[in-house]
Amino acid sequence: MAERSSFNGSIGFVLAAAGSAVGLGNIWRFPYLASKDGGGLFLVIYLILALTFGFTLLTTEIAIGRKTKKSPLSAYRRIHPRFQNLGIIACIIPMIILPYYCVIGGWVMKYAVDFISLKGAETASDGYFTNFITSTTQPITYTVIFLVITAFIIFRGVNKGIEKYSKILMPLLLILIIGIAVFSLTISHTDSNGSTRTGLEGLKVFIIPDFQGLTIEKFSITLMDAMGQLFYSLSIAMGIMISYGSYVKDKDNLVESINRIEIFDTVVAFLAGMMIVPVVYVFSGYEGLNSSGPGLMFINIPKIFSSMGVIGIVLGAVFFLMVLFAAITSAMSILEAIVSSFMDKYGISRKKAVLIEFSIGLFLAILVCLGYNALYFEISLPNGVKAQILDLMDYFSNNILMPITAIATCVLIGWVRGPKTIIEEVTKNNESFSRKGLYRIMIKYICPILLIVLLLKSAGII
Ligand code: ALA
Repeated sequence: MAERSSFNGSIGFVLAAAGSAVGLGNIWRFPYLASKDGGGLFLVIYLILALTFGFTLLTTEIAIGRKTKKSPLSAYRRIHPRFQNLGIIACIIPMIILPYYCVIGGWVMKYAVDFISLKGAETASDGYFTNFITSTTQPITYTVIFLVITAFIIFRGVNKGIEKYSKILMPLLLILIIGIAVFSLTISHTDSNGSTRTGLEGLKVFIIPDFQGLTIEKFSITLMDAMGQLFYSLSIAMGIMISYGSYVKDKDNLVESINRIEIFDTVVAFLAGMMIVPVVYVFSGYEGLNSSGPGLMFINIPKIFSSMGVIGIVLGAVFFLMVLFAAITSAMSILEAIVSSFMDKYGISRKKAVLIEFSIGLFLAILVCLGYNALYFEISLPNGVKAQILDLMDYFSNNILMPITAIATCVLIGWVRGPKTIIEEVTKNNESFSRKGLYRIMIKYICPILLIVLLLKSAGII
């Protein structure tokens, strides 16, 4: 069998893993949650959780990957034969996420094309987004293009695909997001009531904690929101970090790389907030900030850009291009988790594995698109969301399967094999691991407890 590929260097690994982490979650979900949950309070909780909860799960998955040199479907079994089924769930999760992630990636691509071809103003018209997603061919066409790009990169392999494109796209993404974030602080707007709001005031809304009316209930909602967000944002429990970890060389310093991935993801999430919250606040006040989900990125933001004239059209083009880069590098990692699982488990070539998952993903992605058209239905989820096919897949993967996978991983490492399994892996070259004590407590006690609460809450049981 061919020798397993590996990232050429730790920079390639860090950029690829950060590329996976930085995605749609950072750019539309983080800013919305931060403003909904009292700005700075959410930021503080998020940061504490990133350094404890996020760090623990990220370290665990990357170390499992490097230790076993296997992708999720086979890695868990190598750690302990009784946990074979956990590998199956960890492979099913990215298979559920990929189709709808490509559909949203397709929406982003459509908006990027609209702004680049100077038709951005049209995106601000009432019903534009709804008309687009409910149409028959356009969403499918953009989804297919997005999926083909993603599949092409993964088909090229670890070095010529993932590593190469992450090294190009991630620095570009960082430059674009810093540019827009700084620009958004300079804007101001006077509304029809004559009140003027500035970007700097918007920044304050984002970062200064709002303790007014803070209750235990509100605090626990913020905690759960931050934890759910962190989970998604760091690409934890999606099998991704195990497969990327399996490509890291034994001599590379894992502790250092993990710190860098965490910093990159958190800085980008913060910059996304710094970019979006002030812009939305300046033009639509608190009301605008409260519109969530696709509404924020595909309805409010285009309206704002269009109202800014030529600058807005340029800004819109840059913004959607940047989101597109973030979405592609994440979709790549989701597909790689599946492809590498198929390759390891069934001994098939990369080409064959990509073709198989491309076909499955395409079929499901078309169903997701038709969920707004011929297959439209609406059902209520325990979290109150009125769901179509996309929301159902998102809910089932994020709110149910991912917490279950993470809980089982904590049991496996914390209790069955013991934290030393991971500690020994990350310190195998005598690296210093200053958060070792914290890691032990987190993986054994705190992470599983927090995750059980998250699961019960998402399932509507508490
Ligand atoms: N971590 C990726 C995101 O935030 C999946 O979108």
